[in-house]
Amino acid sequence: MILDFGGGFFLRRATNADHPAFCAVCVRTGDAGKDATSREDDPELMGQIYAVPYQVLEPDLAFAIDSPDGVAGYLFGALDTASFNARLASDWYPALRRRVSDPGSDRSAWRGSDWVRHTIHHADLGIPEALAAYPSHGHIDLLPKARGRGIGRRCMGFLEERLAAAGSTGLFLDVHPRNVEAQRFYAALGYAPVPMQTASPMSIFMAKSLPA
Ligand SMILES: CC(C)(COP(=O)(O)OP(=O)(O)OC[C@H]1O[C@@H](n2cnc3c(N)ncnc32)[C@H](O)[C@@H]1OP(=O)(O)O)[C@@H](O)C(=O)NCCC(=O)NCCS
Repeated sequence: MILDFGGGFFLRRATNADHPAFCAVCVRTGDAGKDATSREDDPELMGQIYAVPYQVLEPDLAFAIDSPDGVAGYLFGALDTASFNARLASDWYPALRRRVSDPGSDRSAWRGSDWVRHTIHHADLGIPEALAAYPSHGHIDLLPKARGRGIGRRCMGFLEERLAAAGSTGLFLDVHPRNVEAQRFYAALGYAPVPMQTASPMSIFMAKSLPA
């Protein structure tokens, strides 16, 4: 146990045995923070992009939030986003691409998890210039039973400490524009939206500098 949140909730280091549970959390929070289960035809696929690779590629910053009845969330970090994205490109996406087929670029024909399959085949791993001052990034998703208990705040504080200790000058979070709750959460923790030259319909970046 790394952090005890009380009530049977605690933070621990993630292992590869957590992958199925992480995929479940990912899809249950995958519609801008809300449950995407009914939208996806392959409930594992989102997690193969947004959760599992963190445990595999950056295990020192991959944590599970456990509850009395199993995994209730995850906390992930990448110390150097550019290096993490390079490893995604070289070590992660090639195997995924062999597993799923590209649904093509006609979005009107996409069904279920086709948008994820398309992302796997056409991953945009570029980092906006505006994020240059924030080399690290984080990612947190909690199931409803774990929310509103102060767990998110303590997890983010813990991640910030770990990143600062490793020399990071700042971190960002990629938040869906419709996920107003998460934007309020990050704002309460001192994160501010980073102005972008071109706004994305899929992402708002919220960032915070870390003390040297
Ligand atoms: C967003 C999330 C991580 C927040 O974690 P949490 O444990 O529920 O948040 P906490 O209880 O630690 O709240 C921390 C602070 O944020 C504020 N906050 C949290 N959720 C909020 C909301 N929906 N609206 C406004 N403020 C909110 C709290 O008021 C609290 O402020 P305080 O400490 O000054 O009182 C969690 O709700 C979650 O996982 N949601 C679904 C998935 C998601 O959206 N993930 C983020 C993807 S970018």
